[in-house]
Amino acid sequence: MKGGRTIKKTKKSISREVGLEVGSICGKYFLKLEHLHYGYWTDDIKVDIANLHLAQDEYVKFIVSHIPDGVKTILDVGCGTGQVARKLFDMGYKVECVSPSPFLKERAGELLGNSSRIFECFYEDLQTANRYDMVLFCESFQYIDMQQALSNTDKFLNRGGYLLICDIFRGDIKGKDVMSGGHRLTKFYDLIKKFPFRLIENIDITEATAPNLDLFNDVLENVVRPVVNAGLRFFESRHRIALKFLKWKYRRKTDKLYKKYFEGENTSKNFKKYKSYQLFLYKKEVQR
Ligand SMILES: C[S@@+](CC[C@H](N)C(=O)[O-])C[C@H]1O[C@@H](n2cnc3c(N)ncnc32)[C@H](O)[C@@H]1O
Repeated sequence: MKGGRTIKKTKKSISREVGLEVGSICGKYFLKLEHLHYGYWTDDIKVDIANLHLAQDEYVKFIVSHIPDGVKTILDVGCGTGQVARKLFDMGYKVECVSPSPFLKERAGELLGNSSRIFECFYEDLQTANRYDMVLFCESFQYIDMQQALSNTDKFLNRGGYLLICDIFRGDIKGKDVMSGGHRLTKFYDLIKKFPFRLIENIDITEATAPNLDLFNDVLENVVRPVVNAGLRFFESRHRIALKFLKWKYRRKTDKLYKKYFEGENTSKNFKKYKSYQLFLYKKEVQR
């Protein structure tokens, strides 16, 4: 169902969506992963790519354990493959979802059937008369304009309803951040003050989520980079001049991509230095 006015696709949003789609296809096919979020690594789960699905299940348990009593209806913003929404539905919550990606919406739709309505739009564009007891951003807040995300949440929440965000933020480190992604935490604090939300709970889960980065880095180093290099060698053997030209023409873009993905900077150490993974639970107060 289309729930928004417009679906404004920019180059950036398209590349993010494509990245998430590729992640979901490869994750499902090679590792039987059903979720699109990080894993929450507890002491008893060995950090190994083969255990990522277990850590992802722990992440969902962690989220669910922070849903306050009395919540009955939930809007799952950026529902990905629909797994979290499905779990919530099975637990007895009435869930509706937002997904701007037709591919992910279809996948979530297969899992949710008629149990949950999925609005196919960016959250910034969502229009509905429905109101919810909780709006959930499960690793989706970072992709959404903060001002819009908070003002829409204020609008869509019932009085006394809850906002739950579990996501990556950027720390307040001076200088260039070597890893992309996440809203700046200080900006978030400044902005949320302007809304009628009272903080109920804030838990820093950076330590428990950081190991994902080492796994990601390992895949880039040992799978993606050798495959890309082999592909380039093959192409060069057939089209040496064309490859030389393309390398020259797109040198800035490729340099940037190599720097971002193949210079070994996506590590848990850097994640802990530059990012912070936070759970925030806010309660909507009576209008001031
Ligand atoms: C990392 S995935 C997380 C998916 C899911 N919540 C989970 O925990 O597995 C990010 C999700 O945010 C969605 N998303 C990205 N930009 C969005 C926007 N502007 N409005 C709503 N959802 C958005 C993506 O389509 C994707 O489903």
